[in-house]
Amino acid sequence: MNPFIITGKVPAEYFCDRKEESQRIIRGLSGGENICLLSPRRMGKSKLIQFCYENNRIADSHYTFYIDILHTRSLQEFTFSFGQAVFSQLHSQSRKMLEYFIQGLKSINAKFGFDPMTSMPAFTLELGDISRPEYTLEEIFSCLEKADKPCIVTFDEFQQIGKYPEENIEALLRSHIQHLSNVHFIFSGSELHMISQMFLASSRPFYHSASILELDAIDAQEYIPFVSGHFNNAGIKIDDDDIRKIYNLFEGNTYCMQKTFHEVYDTLQSGEICTAGKLRETIDSIMEEAGTGYRLMLSGIPTRQKELLYAIAEDGIAEKIMSEKFIRKYSLASSSAVQTAAAKLKKIDLLTSRGGKYFIPDILLRLYLQKLTNPDKTFI
Ligand SMILES: Nc1ncnc2c1ncn2[C@@H]1O[C@H](COP(=O)(O)OP(=O)(O)OP(=O)(O)O)[C@@H](O)[C@H]1O
Ligand SMILES: [Mg+2]
Repeated sequence: MNPFIITGKVPAEYFCDRKEESQRIIRGLSGGENICLLSPRRMGKSKLIQFCYENNRIADSHYTFYIDILHTRSLQEFTFSFGQAVFSQLHSQSRKMLEYFIQGLKSINAKFGFDPMTSMPAFTLELGDISRPEYTLEEIFSCLEKADKPCIVTFDEFQQIGKYPEENIEALLRSHIQHLSNVHFIFSGSELHMISQMFLASSRPFYHSASILELDAIDAQEYIPFVSGHFNNAGIKIDDDDIRKIYNLFEGNTYCMQKTFHEVYDTLQSGEICTAGKLRETIDSIMEEAGTGYRLMLSGIPTRQKELLYAIAEDGIAEKIMSEKFIRKYSLASSSAVQTAAAKLKKIDLLTSRGGKYFIPDILLRLYLQKLTNPDKTFI
């Protein structure tokens, strides 16, 4: 079995570190806090939440619900996904609660079916059955509030609610959440500008309603022995310095590192050595694989924005992008054009700025663009 898991559940023995973070989250939730978990993409938020859910302090004494709302486009879809998640979780955990839940959903309970094999209720609802999502939502929350154990609800990719057409969603959700004492929340997301505005701007409903936790990269001191340990177990030699090179290249991004070691691990057998050359080949093939998606994405981006993206990729971390010097260096149109393009790119999270510095948060994309402008480039 490949110990570097990149899809599906990560069993505890293949889960690296996150001791402090998980303790912090578990402590917070047990103490009644709501938590807003932020990080750049693929740093490990979702897996960390699942890891916490499995901890005894949570699993034994709570109902836990996890709803990824990335695909939802409206309050109706949000409510549907939420209801579905609560249903399926209670279905497997408590028949009594499940029945209570269905009875409580007065706005839709006539729509539930029955599984004749198990004589259990079945979730046979269609999206269209949620015709009054505000009511249904209220019913779901009030059922959880009265549950016989405390509940933890994660809304993953929470920034999505900002994209719904309805205008008062934040206020609506906030007004429910505020009144719940038996239900605590994790709001998780990767579109930093949207989420942080939601929770940090004093004018917004969610202001001060959750503790913000920014998930950083796993420490190199934890990650390097984790990797070398798994290679050693398989009888494959790998140099700590080479692991560190991968760590530095990807700035500790969990997915990129795990993907690299996963792929290279598959090509090696006991007695072999995982050399820097092998790692280089692996990165090239990962880049090639990701290229299909990136090319498609780039084809939908207007030229001005694309030019800026290339320029910032080449700089790595770019400063003063509206200066004469930067504009001349990369033959960009004008400082106002750069400003407009940067704003657009930030909006779709292809670009991030912090303290006047600009960078492409998707490291793999950044490297991919660098390679496009400079095909001979090697990364480690
Ligand atoms: N502590 C860990 N140990 C080992 N692998 C991990 C760990 N955390 C995350 N991973 C791996 O890293 C990848 C990204 O993790 P995850 O999906 O949790 O990130 P995310 O921050 O939720 O990403 P996204 O922003 O795309 O939702 C996954 O493939 C997962 O298998
Ligand atoms: Mg996630």
